[in-house]
Amino acid sequence: MSKLRINGGRPLDGAAQISGAKNSALPIMCAALLSARPLTLGNVPHLMDVATMSKLLTQMGLGAERAANGDMILDGARIVDPVAPYELVRTMRASILVLGPLLARCGRAKVSLPGGCAIGQRPVDQHLKGLTAMGASISVEHGYIHAHADRLRGTRIVMDVVTVTGTENLMMAAALAQGKTILENAAREPEVTDLARCLIAMGARIEGAGSDVIRIEGVPELGGARHSVMPDRIETGTYLAAAAATGGRVRLTGVDCDTLDATLDKLRESGARVERGSDWVSLEMNGRPRAVSLRTAPYPAFATDMQAQFMALDTVADGTGIITETIFENRFMHALELQRLGADITIQGNTAIVKGVERLQGAAVMATDLRASASLVIAGLVAEGQTVIDRIYHLDRGYESLERKLAGLGAKIDRLP
Ligand code: UD1
Repeated sequence: MSKLRINGGRPLDGAAQISGAKNSALPIMCAALLSARPLTLGNVPHLMDVATMSKLLTQMGLGAERAANGDMILDGARIVDPVAPYELVRTMRASILVLGPLLARCGRAKVSLPGGCAIGQRPVDQHLKGLTAMGASISVEHGYIHAHADRLRGTRIVMDVVTVTGTENLMMAAALAQGKTILENAAREPEVTDLARCLIAMGARIEGAGSDVIRIEGVPELGGARHSVMPDRIETGTYLAAAAATGGRVRLTGVDCDTLDATLDKLRESGARVERGSDWVSLEMNGRPRAVSLRTAPYPAFATDMQAQFMALDTVADGTGIITETIFENRFMHALELQRLGADITIQGNTAIVKGVERLQGAAVMATDLRASASLVIAGLVAEGQTVIDRIYHLDRGYESLERKLAGLGAKIDRLP
């Protein structure tokens, strides 16, 4: 299993290009299941999760290939087997996103229950509740969701919790349902809006994506389209947080600043000078950051996917930061690993109290999930001496060319086989 070796203690300095968003690419790839015509996608990142999704879709009979210019072409002319097996779903929970499209297009689907994961329980009851309200009959047998429906019917669905993939699953299902679906308490994440843009380009009739009420008028079939995946706001935020924590400066291109407000506000609060343009953002931090306190919540509030990276920033900040995690019940595992590097963190329920220390020291640490790994990379960049991060397959799920991009920013980083 590969490891990442970082020789830290130097500020990041340089420029990097941001990739397409993982959490946008994955649902949009699933949208190809809704149409017999090809879907051409630009800006799809080269990531393990994207490869897993390609494998899942091709197992069902879809064509999936990369063109010479990097575009991904998904051809849903034939779906032979509407099944998502446990072996793939357990490595990537986003596999649940095939459920709505399969049911809408094929009238049946068999999808493994995702089960728990390191950061919390993550049930899918809201996905099932919505599809049931649209007329699907759903049973869970031997760890698999079995769903059937002759044709889904539009209806009004009020979701009990704000769920990103739940909203996406139901929006895709509703695109081919009979009549009008109204999704209330919908997730407002930019990735939901990006999926809606792609579906609209395919011929779907959707209004209100980006707000908490989405209206979808079902159509009998969808066509092909070309769509470019939005920039990854979490990758962007991760590099900005890394630059801030190391007292460095970066300029990132290929970004969408309109999706970054909560992150940029916190970076400014930490003392960073942030400038932004139409598709770029730059950050400069002179000296040590100031501690910031934050509370995660659904978009447009501070993203849970940025919490771990800001905890790493707070470990070396001047002052004490209070971090409250409201989305996932077990998303502080990075705290224990950060302590191995000398951080001073106290966990009380869903709150972490992070007292900034003058310096971290390199050590061997273990990645537990995707964003936790990113926080260890940031801490390793700050820490004096050598940090070796084990289980970096988590990073490969969600960060394209991480070592290359960081090396371009002056980091001393390499991968050990
Ligand atoms: C998505 C993102 C993930 C991000 C998360 C929250 C993708 C592929 N993943 O995950 O990176 O951390 O949003 O922004 O886009 N819940 C239920 N019942 C459900 C569904 C969710 O109770 O049926 C709860 C979850 O346990 C959690 C909260 O709702 O507490 C939010 O989860 P959700 O938005 O669904 O996360 P994902 O869509 O899985």
